[in-house]
Amino acid sequence: MSHHIVEAQNLHYVYPDGTAGLQGVSFRITHGESVAVVGANGAGKSTLLMHLNGCLSPAQGTVRIGDFPLIKTTLKAVRRTVGMVFQNPDDQLFMPTVFDDVAFGPLNIGLPEEEVEQRVTQALETVGAGALRDRPPYRLSKGEKRSVAIASVLSMSPDILVMDEPSADLDPQARRRLIELLKTFKHTKIIATHDLDLALDVCERTLVLSRGRICADGATAELFRNDELLSQSALERPLRMQNCPVCR
Ligand SMILES: Nc1ncnc2c1ncn2[C@@H]1O[C@H](COP(=O)(O)OP(=O)(O)O)[C@@H](O)[C@H]1O
Ligand SMILES: [Mg+2]
Repeated sequence: MSHHIVEAQNLHYVYPDGTAGLQGVSFRITHGESVAVVGANGAGKSTLLMHLNGCLSPAQGTVRIGDFPLIKTTLKAVRRTVGMVFQNPDDQLFMPTVFDDVAFGPLNIGLPEEEVEQRVTQALETVGAGALRDRPPYRLSKGEKRSVAIASVLSMSPDILVMDEPSADLDPQARRRLIELLKTFKHTKIIATHDLDLALDVCERTLVLSRGRICADGATAELFRNDELLSQSALERPLRMQNCPVCR
């Protein structure tokens, strides 16, 4: 089965003000892989992720999702396949209530009301946000907004999950719930994060980005032992891998 493959070939992107976002990024992620994207602030993580569902189009290079190149005519199908949680939940939530936001995608693809109701309830329960159902999203705390943004993607049952800093602002229980959720999601996952403990828990492979380029691509546990590489990317070993004399 090749429909959960994500491939980037020589991606270049320049923002309108001339800032280089990506400077030649290539990788191939195969069906069912779980991949972390890490790097310093401004390394290009969000820019890269936004290429994977066509929110940004590369100046040069190609993205392939499954068997198809990501182009205008495949965009709609790609967006059904790739569920994207943006770095800023305010970019994702725009309806009057939480229910409406989580129901928006399923309604948009014409699912019957009963199934929409079922999907919304399940997605909100999964992220522990059932009680927020009738609240206006703009009044929620940042962490609550993030949980709802994740639910709005889960309600579409995507084949590929792409998440940009999904654990930012979450309280420890919501973060733990997210990790358990990600562990049970068996399809392809791509997660940009500064939370290296989460990456270690959930992703067997990691891409390290630096100034719009991939500077390392390998097994997460191995890369996270490389202190020089981590420090070049303004990162630190996950807590579990720090040499604490008590935990050792
Ligand atoms: N809208 C924008 N206009 C101009 N430059 C931008 C814009 N968004 C991001 N950048 C720049 O592009 C580079 C990559 O940013 P980004 O992908 O957001 O990094 P990361 O997600 O790794 O923190 C940075 O230098 C950032 O300042
Ligand atoms: Mg970012």
